[in-house]
Order: sequence, then C-alpha cells, then structure tokens
Amino acid sequence: MRAQHFRQSILSLGFKVFHCQPVRDWSASYIPLNLRVLMAGERLTFNLFLKINDGEDFKYFPYMEEGEVLDAKWLAPLARMDIKHLYFQQKDLDQVLAYLNNHLQLLEMEGAAQSKKKLNVLGEHLNLTLRQTFSAPRLGPHIKLAEKQVDRIIEEFNRDKLSPKMVWEILYRNYSLYNHSVNVCLLAVAMMLFLGKSNRESRLLGSAALFIDLGMTRISERILNKAGGLTPEEWEETKKHPLIGKQMLRGHSSLPAEGGQLILEHHENADGSGYPEGLSLTRQHPWTRILRLLDAYDAFTTFRPHRPAQTPFATLKFLQKQEGPRGPVFEPRTLMSFIRFLALA
Ligand SMILES: [Fe+2]
Ligand SMILES: [Fe+2]
Repeated sequence: MRAQHFRQSILSLGFKVFHCQPVRDWSASYIPLNLRVLMAGERLTFNLFLKINDGEDFKYFPYMEEGEVLDAKWLAPLARMDIKHLYFQQKDLDQVLAYLNNHLQLLEMEGAAQSKKKLNVLGEHLNLTLRQTFSAPRLGPHIKLAEKQVDRIIEEFNRDKLSPKMVWEILYRNYSLYNHSVNVCLLAVAMMLFLGKSNRESRLLGSAALFIDLGMTRISERILNKAGGLTPEEWEETKKHPLIGKQMLRGHSSLPAEGGQLILEHHENADGSGYPEGLSLTRQHPWTRILRLLDAYDAFTTFRPHRPAQTPFATLKFLQKQEGPRGPVFEPRTLMSFIRFLALA
C-alpha cells in the first residue's frame, strides 16, 4: 500500500514538480497519462506514478495502484498543484489502451453530452497508439488502428456542432512528437470539416497529419536533442525527415498514395522556398498548404523547452508576416480561412 501512504503525505511534502516532459523521450520507460482521461469510481488496471524532481534526477512515486477504485478526491490535490499528468510504466501500455477503450464505451452509453470528454479520451488513445506505432518494427497494423481513431474523431466532430473552443481545449499543450502529431491531426480534421470537405477527405488529411514527422524517429538523437542551433550539415540531415517518413509508410495500403505525397510535402512553402523539393504552389497537393500551416501553428502555440507557448493571436500575426524570397511562406487564403475557423477574424 505504498501508494496510499504516499497520497496521504503528499500535501505535507515540499517538492517541486516539472510540467514539461523531457523532450523526444520515445524510449522512456515511464509514459505520461493525462488526468482528464481517468474514470472516477472505476477500478484501475495499472499503477500510476507521480513524477518528482529529486535534485538532479527525476523519480517516480506510486500514487495509485492497480486494483484500487479511483476516488475523485485523490485528483483534487494534483489539480491544486496544477499537475496534469501521472505516469505509467511502458510495460502496461496495452492495459492502458484497453482501459481507454472501456472509458470510450462508457461515454458512448452516456450519449452526445459527453463529446468533449470523448474527444479527450480519443486524443489520448491516439497519442499512445502513435507512441506504439513510431517504435514498432511493423507499422501496418498500428497504422490501421490509428486511422480507425481518426474516423471516431470525425464522428464526434460531426455529432456535436464543432466549435473552435472545443478543438482548442482538447489540444495537448506539452510538447512531444506524439502530442504534436495528434494536435495537427485534430486541427486538420476540424479544419477540413469547417471547409465543408467530406468525411473521406477529412480522414485522408487527418491520417497524413499523424505521420508527417514519423521520419524524425530516424534522425540521430544527437541532432534532435541539440539545444543550440544546427550546423548546415545537421540541418540537411533534419530536412530528410519528410522523405524518410513517406518511405517508412510505403506499402501500407491503408494510407492512399496521396497521403504519402502530403507527408513528403509538409515543409513546402507557398512561394516555393520550402523543402525537400522547393515546389511552387501549383505543383503541390492542394492540401499541402493546410498541413504546412497547421504544423507551424501547433509548433508555435505549444510550450517548448527553449521558449514559452505563444498565444494563437501572436502566432497568426507571426505566420502572416513570414515572407520567403518570392512571397508569403503561408498561403494567404488558407491562412484567412484558418483565422475564420478559429473565429478570430
Ligand atoms: Fe516535419
Ligand atoms: Fe512538425
């Protein structure tokens, strides 16, 4: 009953909690789980730990144990300290995914009133599915699972009248490659539906969005974790990630060829100054400009170790001002529709 003890003494301890996860920790054995996906009154099927900074090191203390029935009042002290995550062990990943599936089924029975809660759970499920996918030797089955989740998100967005506020609230504010991918996916699906595109089209862009940075998992850790600026050689290396991602997905028929093209082009600019090909707008897939914009938007509005999160307004202003050698980097009409979508215009 270590967890019980720990919970009781937690308020009297003077410890310091870090809100950000270590960046790009895809090999870490403790995985964050957002508190908003936990079910009060239900039995836990895995252990949950609190992450604590202990001098130089991080330590994980058991906070709830497998078999305990979650009492809502255990979460209150965490909320007061602005703690949004507990951690589970990598070995329990399948258990956690099954738990989230159960939660989705329970919410399903409660009907449309639970849409936002459901989107939160779907987002976290997708997040963990991606974590599994990005490290799996065989991508195929995981990709299909991820795409099924995109369908469920579309269903939820269609069922409840889509509001930008809701989309904003379900985005993940802590940066990791998975959170970023899930955010871009949620934004892409929401934006496509806002533009009146079909479910099939929204699904295609949403699924492509999940895998735009898959190729990053093959870039050397040394480059990814580098604090300062990159050397020209390191920058060239990083610029390979769209092609690597596309190649990694090749042969997984569930994502149509167009998906591969969108992944390859997600860093192409409207004025032809992007990479890897430097394609002019007319030679890009018509939705590349949407992906390019949402990717940048999410990156700037999310907390990163080297800078605070920017507000949506400041980010949009900044993106609007980005000029390449031959004109705006972000296609102005797409940017305007996005601003309308966010209801900021
Ligand atoms: Fe990228
Ligand atoms: Fe990105």
